[in-house]
Amino acid sequence: MRLSVIGCGYLGAVHAAAMASIGHDVVGIDVDATRIESLSRGEAPFFEPHLDDLLTAGLASGRLRFTTDMAEASGAAVHFLAVGTPQQSGGHAADLTFVDAAVDALVPHLSPGDIVAGKSTVPVGTAARLAAVVARAGASLVWNPEFLREGWAVKDTLEPDRLVVGVGPDGAGVDALREVYSLAVEAGTPFIVMEWPTAELVKVAANAFLATKISFINAMAEIAEVTGADVTQLADAIGYDERIGRRFLGAGIGFGGGCLPKDIRAFAARAEELGRGESIGFLREIDAINLRRRERAVELVVQGLGGSAFDKRVTLLGAAFKPFSDDIRDSPALDVAVRLRGLGAHVTVTDPAALANARRQYPQLTYVDDRDEALRDADCVVLVTEWDLYRRELTPEHTSSLTAGRVVVDGRNGWDAAAWRAAGWTYLGMGRP
Ligand code: UGA
Repeated sequence: MRLSVIGCGYLGAVHAAAMASIGHDVVGIDVDATRIESLSRGEAPFFEPHLDDLLTAGLASGRLRFTTDMAEASGAAVHFLAVGTPQQSGGHAADLTFVDAAVDALVPHLSPGDIVAGKSTVPVGTAARLAAVVARAGASLVWNPEFLREGWAVKDTLEPDRLVVGVGPDGAGVDALREVYSLAVEAGTPFIVMEWPTAELVKVAANAFLATKISFINAMAEIAEVTGADVTQLADAIGYDERIGRRFLGAGIGFGGGCLPKDIRAFAARAEELGRGESIGFLREIDAINLRRRERAVELVVQGLGGSAFDKRVTLLGAAFKPFSDDIRDSPALDVAVRLRGLGAHVTVTDPAALANARRQYPQLTYVDDRDEALRDADCVVLVTEWDLYRRELTPEHTSSLTAGRVVVDGRNGWDAAAWRAAGWTYLGMGRP
């Protein structure tokens, strides 16, 4: 099928390349010329495992191209909207400027019978509004939310857990979407058709649930801290209950990124607009718990350093909001770094993928590319992003050969406390005695 993908960020670039890899003829469109040049060379403009390979293969096959010219969307049967919906500056609601601009720019190039498939995460009610706009060109709109995780985006796009398609009253677009995803559907992926508002809500409900799970275990970490309990053992034990499950019960400095934090805020803001603010008022608490854990990591550093971080050398292992990503949007790691610097610490940050982005956004911090160089002479080491390079490959013995001090704060509960203590370190975890 001929497809267009509007917006070539973390979501759209992967979607375009993945759709070409399964045989579709795809044009990816973005207003950012630098991004389009990079994608056209087969180079992902951000870190995403396996994306370069998919881009190179797609470009070579002739079925994938990128452009800044919206007119090239013309002729595609399905147009995917994959632009960002960031948090409004000065508010909690989603900023729909990019969605509206993309639709307005697309409409002149639509033909009757075309399908516009929204993938961006939007406040419930947006699809119905946009459907009226594309209807002017005789096109129909479906809402097809995306559940991919950064770092696993290629796999999640090609082998999704489920496909959700939200339709309007006439049901238009279902057949086209089933055809787009025919390989996955034939392989048994659930293909669930529902109405627009349900599809829009599925996405935000899923992210709200995940955020709640993380903040739940982080709330348990807070209780563990005043009772001498160990939250990692607690998570293991409750996680054996299949109704609960161990995944997303990793206590630590909490969630960040371009999705979970802004999505729960936008959801709460939308519920208030709908007169149902109290129904998900708990999401404000989820957000507050999450932000408190960043401060807790700072407290542990101060505690480990004997009551003050002033003039101490602190090395942070990690800058990205999670491993296998260079994304620093709302990164807990960099938030901790900035707070420590505010206390007068000499903060050094290292990360295998995210330093270029971090340098641009927080030029006041010191960055060192090489892990061991970053550790040299540190008084305190803080694990904030659980890359294998730190969590698995860095031993207490090796660290001891580099640092001045013997204090580690494990912001991701990723290390074996006993091993660090046995090597002579003061080990401080999150919600662990
Ligand atoms: C999230 C969802 O998982 C995806 O399903 C969704 O499609 C995506 O948002 C989106 O809306 O586009 P992502 O932001 O890539 O994906 O990251 P996650 O893997 O969900 O991690 C989110 C944050 O939670 C990270 O900062 C991670 O470190 C943290 N986390 C995760 C924990 O603190 N503890 C855990 O146990 C798990």
